Amino acid sequence: MLDVKDIKNDFPIFKSKEKNFIYLDSASTSQKPQSVIDSVSSYYDSYSANIHRALYEIGEKATDKYESVREKVRQFMNVPDSHNIIFSSGTTESINLIAYAWGTKNLSNDDHILITEMEHHSNLVPWQLLSSRSNTSLDYILLNNDGTLELESLEKKILSKTKIISVSHQSNVFGTINPINKIIDEAKKVGAITVIDGAQAVPHMKVDIENLGCDFYAFSGHKMLGPTGVGVLIGRKTILEKMDPFMGGGEMINTVTMEKSTWNDVPWKFEAGTPNIAQVIGLGAAIDYIEKIGIENIHQHEQGLLKYGLEILSQNENIVLYGNPEIRGAVIPFNVKNVHPHDLAKFLDTDGICIRAGHHCTQPIMNRLGINATARASFYIYNTKNDIEKLGDSIKKTADIFK
Ligand SMILES: Cc1ncc(COP(=O)(O)O)c(C=O)c1O
Repeated sequence: MLDVKDIKNDFPIFKSKEKNFIYLDSASTSQKPQSVIDSVSSYYDSYSANIHRALYEIGEKATDKYESVREKVRQFMNVPDSHNIIFSSGTTESINLIAYAWGTKNLSNDDHILITEMEHHSNLVPWQLLSSRSNTSLDYILLNNDGTLELESLEKKILSKTKIISVSHQSNVFGTINPINKIIDEAKKVGAITVIDGAQAVPHMKVDIENLGCDFYAFSGHKMLGPTGVGVLIGRKTILEKMDPFMGGGEMINTVTMEKSTWNDVPWKFEAGTPNIAQVIGLGAAIDYIEKIGIENIHQHEQGLLKYGLEILSQNENIVLYGNPEIRGAVIPFNVKNVHPHDLAKFLDTDGICIRAGHHCTQPIMNRLGINATARASFYIYNTKNDIEKLGDSIKKTADIFK
């Protein structure tokens, strides 16, 4: 059991806002504990310097702190080697990096890319762009009505010419936790590389990269109590070493002449220019905070909230719930009859409740459901059953107004 009262005390936003502030939109971005905010400001306050080049004490300290986060990520996610860990600006940049730096060089006309109908636009549009650039075909594993993937079709969808399979670990709409082990195993049979979008998974469950055996895994810092502007791409070193750089600039080179350049070692080959130093350091503090509470404890706490949330919302006959996957994270998509989700979100806001409303950057899912948008409540370590009861009451009040 998490002591949510204690946890909330670590988050300044819950102290500075009015007492009833209830945040149910962590799938979009999480709130930040004081320790993360302090770690970012302490970099600016006391050792603000560029990394890998400043030959003075604060520069060395900044470099050490930045590089130590690589080791922190390695341990947190059981990555075989910290050199497999690239810092990016977020999941979106991480996936684009693969699509450009791996995809452009390795795909030709006959090849095939496989993703799913469930993907966030960040794990869909980069593959559409790659597919049209390289003239390759792009196919989708389709959705079942319950918000799971139609995996019966997996063997048929994976072709001998499939070169990339990219799938989300956890859906940001249904919360579905996909059986990525199975998908990775099938991909290996045809030699396709596997990309896992872990934006919704890493903040909420134990992810073990060595055990998964995927080729690439991407996630964002801001959804896991860290700052915005930082993300991670974990890649298989043998593949990263063969890849061309994504962006050119300072620090990613070994030598530069007027004729040509040679590249720095992995991972720095993929970190051109001055990186997001403060944000990477903040991500390290976020991992420390999560580890202090325990990722398994976080997962259990959220599973309790999910169960209670489904129970409360399903008691209201005006609420339509979408999807019903058996194995899922703490995300609930729903609509209230006769109320547009944007109106609902605005009305709930008057009671101090923040939910998400819209297409959640997953328009193909909305098309599949035959709707334009849903409301979505998502939970994290600072939420309680009381938050869910307040959500239920506020929805009832809003539904009555729109009757
Ligand atoms: C499943 C999933 N993938 C990718 C992203 C994109 O993450 P970011 O905007 O941090 O790059 C999100 C963000 O909501 C997401 O939920």
